Amino acid sequence: MSKITKEELDSMAKQPKKEDKDWIKVGMSSCGIAAGAEEVFKTLTEEVKKRNIKVAIKKCGCAGMCSVEPLVEVNVEGMPQVTYGKVNKDVAIQILDDHIHSHRLVNDHIYDIQAKKPNG
Ligand code: FES
Repeated sequence: MSKITKEELDSMAKQPKKEDKDWIKVGMSSCGIAAGAEEVFKTLTEEVKKRNIKVAIKKCGCAGMCSVEPLVEVNVEGMPQVTYGKVNKDVAIQILDDHIHSHRLVNDHIYDIQAKKPNG
């Protein structure tokens, strides 16, 4: 397991940029990394590039749900913002196939869901 640098922690604390309309954030707290978040981040990054999907992949810090790490938060236009838990490599690919591509939620892994404001 690699050490997290101060620069990486600072970048994790930043929210997605305004120009990043659609994004996926992977929780990289110590419990997330222990549960496999690095593999999930790598899988999402590689698959998004391979499939030429226009979605930003970000790292973030603690989401306060250690027991269901790795956590992945997904925000795409026309969908509620969803936090998925217990995400492994296969679930990460399912999120890309179902949530991102087909606009269907991955029901078995939803841990939080936020409706968006009509204009938000
Ligand atoms: S320390 Fe595990 S979610 Fe914050």
